[in-house]
Amino acid sequence: MRIVLVGPPGAGKGTQATRLAETLHIPHISTGDLFRANISRQTELGKLAKSYMDAGNLVPDEVTIAMAKDRMEQPDAEGGFLLDGFPRNVSQAEALDELLETEDMKLDAVLDLEAPEDEVVKRIAGRRVCRNDSAHVFHVAYTPPKKEGVCDVCGGELYQRDDDSEETVRKRLEVYHTQTEPIIDYYKAQGLVTTVSAMGKVADVTKRAMSALSGS
Ligand code: AP5
Ligand code: ZN
Repeated sequence: MRIVLVGPPGAGKGTQATRLAETLHIPHISTGDLFRANISRQTELGKLAKSYMDAGNLVPDEVTIAMAKDRMEQPDAEGGFLLDGFPRNVSQAEALDELLETEDMKLDAVLDLEAPEDEVVKRIAGRRVCRNDSAHVFHVAYTPPKKEGVCDVCGGELYQRDDDSEETVRKRLEVYHTQTEPIIDYYKAQGLVTTVSAMGKVADVTKRAMSALSGS
């Protein structure tokens, strides 16, 4: 399956994507995680991305699309993938359509993860991420690690993302509404969108998402 996961910052895209990708045996491709891996390796791409991410803005399309394309062309993505955080504006969605068309492929579903603003703000404020792997995500109150500050999965140090400050979160939400939400209409026109509530327990959201996908 080829799936796009969309939703506001903090809705739980990464949390759900990890679980859905495992169940569906497809790679979880997160452009945010790819940028963070570049930042920790201190690559040129990482340095460029960090300046945009810390301000809550989108990284320019040219580098983002090239990075996503490169990842989607890896052998493990041949049978499908779950995109998390890409596309993030209409021109990225158009670029993805073009890319899929040249490979004679198409998307199967777009999952729109819906959560109210006050909830996403609470989720982001308490989020802690592993230094070793930004797919290892916890929340100080909702999904706390067994030992404070230590990743349950790999023992790595947990930290708060630089772009999780209150001011940057406000900017990221604004960018989501103005630049990312329009892709929902873009995909609705293709009949691909299923809206799933992101409220409630992590496992319940996964169940809702899986049943939405089974109808796609
Ligand atoms: P990215 O990393 O994609 O961030 P985001 O979209 O803002 O989303 P988040 O990672 O903040 O949240 P999430 O929805 O994954 O929630 P999570 O599962 O962690 O992008 C970061 C930046 O990179 C962008 O601002 C941009 O600069 C750049 N970028 C990335 N892609 C780009 C692109 N395509 N183009 C241009 N620029 C791009 O959950 C949040 C918290 O809630 C966690 O603590 C979790 O434990 C908790 N939680 C999750 N589910 C539940 C639940 N059901 N109940 C209680 N708590 C929960
Ligand atoms: Zn870890």
